Amino acid sequence: MKIISSYSIKGGVGKTALAVNLAFAFHETGRRTLLLDLDPQGAAAFYFRVGNAKKLNMDDSRTIAADLRKNIRESDFPGLDIIPSNLAYRHFDVILNGMSKSRKQLRKVLDEFRSDYDTILMDCPPNITLLSENVFRASDAIMVPVIPTVLSQRTLEQLFSFFRDEELSCDMLHPFFSMAQKINKMHREIIEELPQAYPGFLKTVIPFSVNVEKMGIRRMPLLAYSNNCEAALAYRSLCNEIISITKSDPHS
Ligand SMILES: Nc1ncnc2c1ncn2[C@@H]1O[C@H](COP(=O)(O)OP(=O)(O)OP(=O)(O)O)[C@@H](O)[C@H]1O
Ligand SMILES: [Mg+2]
Repeated sequence: MKIISSYSIKGGVGKTALAVNLAFAFHETGRRTLLLDLDPQGAAAFYFRVGNAKKLNMDDSRTIAADLRKNIRESDFPGLDIIPSNLAYRHFDVILNGMSKSRKQLRKVLDEFRSDYDTILMDCPPNITLLSENVFRASDAIMVPVIPTVLSQRTLEQLFSFFRDEELSCDMLHPFFSMAQKINKMHREIIEELPQAYPGFLKTVIPFSVNVEKMGIRRMPLLAYSNNCEAALAYRSLCNEIISITKSDPHS
C-alpha cells in the first residue's frame, strides 16, 4: 500500500484538485484507492458528492481507525472510496497531542487499511501543525503544488527548511507546478529555474485551466468529464511519475 499526500503550507494552490484527480487516476490503473479528506473544509468529498463524515471518537489509533472505517463512502466509481471530512477534524491536533508518540499516530491508523487498499491519497489542510507532522511521517510521497510565483517559491523553501530541521527526509517531497500560465513571463522563468534547486521536483506541469474550475459545478474529478484535455493529461502524467518514484519504496 502506498500513501500519497497532497500538501502545502500555502492555501489555494491546487491541493484538493490534485488529490481528487490523482485519486481518480490511481483508480483508473486498477488500484483499490481510498481518498482521505483531512481538511475540515470538506471540499474533496464535495467533489465526489458524498456527505460529511460522522463525528469521530478519537481516543487512540485503534478507535480512530475503527471510526474512519465506519465513515468510508463508496464513490460513483467502483474501487474508489472516500472518507469525507468533518468539522471535528479541527480538533485532531489537540487529540494527537494527548497521545504518546503523537507524531506517528496517523501511520498506525492507516496501517489498519493495508489489506483493503493499494493506494491512499490524503487531501491536507493548508497549515503546518501536529496533524501535518503526522502526515509527513505517514506518507510515502508528499506532493506539493507550487504556483509559479515568488510567494509560492518562498513557502516551498520554508517546507524544505522544516524537513531539514526536523530531520525528516526531503526525498519524500515532490513539488510540481500548479496553475501554470504559459503566457505569463514570470511563470515561464520560475518554471525554468526553480526545479534545479530541488531534485525531487516533478516534471509534469499542471496548466491553469477553466476545465479544472468546472469541477465545482460538475462535482466530479476533471478526469471523469474531460478525459483528454491538457489538464487531465497532466494529472495522469503526474500519477505515472509518482507511481514510478514510489515503486521501489521500502515502506510498502
Ligand atoms: N489547474 C487549475 N486551473 C484553474 N483553476 C484551478 C486549478 N487548480 C485548482 N484550481 C482552482 O483554484 C481554486 C483552489 O484550488 P484547490 O481548492 O484545489 O486548492 P487548495 O490548495 O486545496 O485550497 P485550500 O488551501 O483552500 O484547501 C479552486 O477554485 C480550484 O477550482
Ligand atoms: Mg483544499
